[in-house]
Amino acid sequence: VAPKKPPQSAPPLSSGPRRNKAGTLSGNEALFVTVRPIRIIGDPVLHTPAQPVTRFDDELQELLYDMVDTMRAAPGVGLAAPQIGVSQQVFVWEWTDDEGILQQGAVINPTLDTGPRSTSSADPEADLEGCLSIPDLRFPLARANRAVLTGTTPQQTPLQITAEGWLARIFQHEFDHLQGTLYADRLPWPDKRRARREIRANGWGQPGHSWTPGVDEYELAEEPEET
Ligand code: NI
Repeated sequence: VAPKKPPQSAPPLSSGPRRNKAGTLSGNEALFVTVRPIRIIGDPVLHTPAQPVTRFDDELQELLYDMVDTMRAAPGVGLAAPQIGVSQQVFVWEWTDDEGILQQGAVINPTLDTGPRSTSSADPEADLEGCLSIPDLRFPLARANRAVLTGTTPQQTPLQITAEGWLARIFQHEFDHLQGTLYADRLPWPDKRRARREIRANGWGQPGHSWTPGVDEYELAEEPEET
């Protein structure tokens, strides 16, 4: 299969000028990868609508670098700013699709239009969804197969991406994060009850919990499909 170019509107993700590209240390160079703790379900920032970004400054650029580093370290295929405790309308994604094409980007102040949500019940395997803020748990959730993401790039140019399949799912999942909604909130019974039980069993569902990729041992044995 010939490689296709990613959408023009999705700017390549930089992991920041602080990263030593080769991943090696030479001389006085240090490898700076800033991984921030990921908030776990129950933290108020995850359950509060995020604020619109109004300043496209160095602080926003720093936030984006940290989000990309944290997403890659988890590893995850998407990350929203509230997940690292920042209540701003920003999310990033990085996912290689079934044809081997790298889909990646960042969006600021997005809106999302979805087609009709699937009315059939979720497929226990194909629709299995996870979230870095509910580590190691997965439940099937039916999502719309198509979603149109509109917003702004970090460079303040307009962005619009029409996504299908898993990328559409990533967009719906991350957009939900910016509304203060987690996928666990969308689960139908009895999965919602099972999820709540698991969350309580881990001591989560209340403020004050987080985990740090590379430090805490979550997600190590899993496919990198969480967002
Ligand atoms: Ni998530």
